[in-house]
Amino acid sequence: MSVCLRGAAQVLRPPEDGLPYLRHDRASALSLDPGSVCVRDGLVAALEEDDGAELAIDAAGGALLPGLVDCHTHLPFAGWRADEYEQKVTGVPYEEIALRGGGIASSARAFAEASDGEVLEQAGTLALEMLAHGTTTFECKSGYGLSRPEELRALRLARELGERVVQRTVSTALLAHAVPEGLTADDWMDEVERLVPEVEAQALDIYVETVAFSIDHMARMGELAASRGMALRAHLEQFSTSRSVPVALDYRARSVDHLACLHHDDVEPLARSECAAVLLPGAELLGAERVAPARPLADAGAICALATDLNPGTSPVLSLPLVAGIAVRRYGWSVREALLALTLNPAWVLGRSADLGSIEPGKRADLVLLDCPAEHVPYRFGRNPVALVLMGGRVVYVRPGQEWRLGS
Ligand code: NIG
Ligand code: FE
Repeated sequence: MSVCLRGAAQVLRPPEDGLPYLRHDRASALSLDPGSVCVRDGLVAALEEDDGAELAIDAAGGALLPGLVDCHTHLPFAGWRADEYEQKVTGVPYEEIALRGGGIASSARAFAEASDGEVLEQAGTLALEMLAHGTTTFECKSGYGLSRPEELRALRLARELGERVVQRTVSTALLAHAVPEGLTADDWMDEVERLVPEVEAQALDIYVETVAFSIDHMARMGELAASRGMALRAHLEQFSTSRSVPVALDYRARSVDHLACLHHDDVEPLARSECAAVLLPGAELLGAERVAPARPLADAGAICALATDLNPGTSPVLSLPLVAGIAVRRYGWSVREALLALTLNPAWVLGRSADLGSIEPGKRADLVLLDCPAEHVPYRFGRNPVALVLMGGRVVYVRPGQEWRLGS
């Protein structure tokens, strides 16, 4: 099947083909010139018009982007915690919310009580909404299991979700998210060590915080990941500064995520490494967290990515265009910096940048057509600009009212 997307006002292109990532100090080298893209057998075939294509799509007035990649979500989870959000914004301290039965433990209870069907139904509905916002690849994490059988169940459900949804998914085992009741963190890490050989995932993840796991536990997770050929990822420096990032770099972490409280001395070493800085501005805004030093990270040449952190606690947000809007305003980022952080760099985080994350010949034709120029994404804040989505060259979403682009 051949498809031609004709006459886009802008096509987002990397400065050269074959880049595994682009450091943020080079984001201005991304081009947004007018053009057409031609797709054959599910792959980008050429950056020109093809009059003989079986399907012609009118891209007039729009920006054509690679499919957006959400490299940090907590799908699949069960239920929501809206009551907790209201308590949080009206000033109830986190400790008290936890004492009242809230926090990660409450999502773990909901997950254990929900049937497989209920979990998949909720996650599948969210995936459809994400598709309508341009997300063509997303990460799934375990982490609301908090026991051996439930963590394994979460990873199985993540796999089943990947088989059900239109998007591509990549699984991460967040085996150290909260210390299960009745255990010490060391006890649970012993259990994690026994669990890891049974886990099928691209990466192992851990939450380092005073209320969760320590830097030493992360080092242990790093060794486990290395022994199984998996990537290490970590939730770091979210609520307090622990100087965990240099240790994550020692263990060659693929990404360090959150970083609202990143120490300024850790900016340069992180920016020099191949470890991505995954920034989660939705969680920062809704949790009244500090703002990550995203401008210094970008200027220093870090590999930055943006993600939703979609979860029922800190970030019930699924829209990457909205995340871009928050990032541009609060980080002082350019539109190109935001787009880079939603495409090639998060594909690098998920180990998929060889075939996803940019529009170049030979890569998968996962494409998003906006109904406006890219500059409108952050500016018309909160609006969904996505007109049409293709996965592997197949049209999988058309926003009502945009059918004219497919011809009669
Ligand atoms: O990425 N920080 C730890 N984990 C999640 C939140 C989990 C929750 O509150 O349910 C996060 O923000
Ligand atoms: Fe998270």
